[in-house]
Amino acid sequence: MRICVVGAGYVGLVSAAVFADWGHDVVCLDNDPLKIGRIRAGNLPVYEPGLPEMVSRNMEKKSLRFTTDWEVAVKDRELVMVAVGTPPGEDGHPNLTALWNVVKSLKASIRDHVLVAIKSTVPVGTCAAVSRFLNEDREGRFDIISAPEFLRQGSAINDFMSPDRMVIGCRTEAARQSMKELFEPLDCPVIFTDWQSSEMIKYAANAYLAMKISFINTIANLCEEADANIYQVALGIGLDRRIGPAFLKPGIGFGGSCLPKDTKALVALGETYGVNVSLFQEVLRINHEQRVRIVKKLEARLEGLAGKRIAVLGLAFKANTNDVREAPALAIIHQIVQAGGQVVAYDPVVDMKDLSPLYGFTPAEDAYQAVTHADAAVLLTEWDEFYGLELERVRELMNQPLLVDGRNLFAPQVMRQLGFHYIPVGISEEHVANSLVPTA
Ligand SMILES: NC(=O)c1ccc[n+]([C@@H]2O[C@H](COP(=O)([O-])OP(=O)(O)OC[C@H]3O[C@@H](n4cnc5c(N)ncnc54)[C@H](O)[C@@H]3O)[C@@H](O)[C@H]2O)c1
Repeated sequence: MRICVVGAGYVGLVSAAVFADWGHDVVCLDNDPLKIGRIRAGNLPVYEPGLPEMVSRNMEKKSLRFTTDWEVAVKDRELVMVAVGTPPGEDGHPNLTALWNVVKSLKASIRDHVLVAIKSTVPVGTCAAVSRFLNEDREGRFDIISAPEFLRQGSAINDFMSPDRMVIGCRTEAARQSMKELFEPLDCPVIFTDWQSSEMIKYAANAYLAMKISFINTIANLCEEADANIYQVALGIGLDRRIGPAFLKPGIGFGGSCLPKDTKALVALGETYGVNVSLFQEVLRINHEQRVRIVKKLEARLEGLAGKRIAVLGLAFKANTNDVREAPALAIIHQIVQAGGQVVAYDPVVDMKDLSPLYGFTPAEDAYQAVTHADAAVLLTEWDEFYGLELERVRELMNQPLLVDGRNLFAPQVMRQLGFHYIPVGISEEHVANSLVPTA
């Protein structure tokens, strides 16, 4: 198939590379010339394991090209897949400026029949509105498809190629057949729906995941106070097949470009339709409080943060990505700095050049430099690199061996044996000290 992917971000770049790898002829368009220049030079703007190799392999084969030029991008294309950003607006509704700019460009540059698949996460009703706008001059010129994406950053290629399911919202048999052919390599259920249901599935899925995280964090907070152990509680409830073990890891709450934005969008949708969506408001509130709670723990242990040196390990909103959109780490750093603390931060892949003056922290070359002379360390991203830290060296370098672990990366009893004051989420230090059975 001759495909144009619009948007060379986390979703667009992965989609374009995988389609090219499957043998399609792909042109990827972005309106950011710097981004396209970097990609062409082999220096991808997003960190995603396996992606650089896949992009360069297909660029060499000429099955994948990059451009900023609409005429080049849409010439002879059978399918245009739109993967531009839909960031949250002030009122919680997604900002659809980029999407509508693309739609207007499509209308101006495409004359023949074409399929337009919306991969961006868009509010319910968007595909219908896009179809009305694009077809107002000639009915049937643009065939609109809702094709929401469920990949996770950090494992995006694998998720794209082995999804749990595909959801396709379409209106014509031709669109249905084309999507069946395009996603033929996938071994997963494909659900065909109307546009609105497909759009709703994406939001509902993300809001459910967000809800599960806020749920387990609430249980974890209760465990800390009630002398229970979240490791055992999560295991015990996760083995119930009606619940399942995924997304039952307590921590500092969800971040990134999807869960917060999409949960906010559902709240906004509820307001539009006059439906009570206080459940999702509460999910967001709990998520915010989880970031405050970790700073309070630090403050309590250090008897105030003024003048204290705090090492922050990890800035990305999760491991294996360089994305810091809505990263809990940045909100936590902000609070520490506001309370008078001095932050020295390290992340294996995040570019800290612009972030450090903005958030008022000192960047470190590695984790050991970050913890040197620190009064406490706070672990905020679950990078593999941190699993491999020489913990005795970390302890020796610190002013005092206080490690607040927002990701529950280490075994509490081992940390205690190593001489740390180790504060994970969902289990108190007293519980670890008094426990006769392993805690993790
Ligand atoms: N990131 C994820 O993990 C993920 C997962 C599933 C769904 N989504 C959804 O996919 C969409 C894209 O997300 P992302 O993380 O890839 O965003 P992104 O910000 O990484 O990429 C968007 C790209 O679109 C480009 N763009 C903006 N306006 C343009 C225009 N008029 N013409 C051409 N290019 C334009 C930007 O320059 C940018 O490179 C969003 O709606 C998001 O909610 C994201």
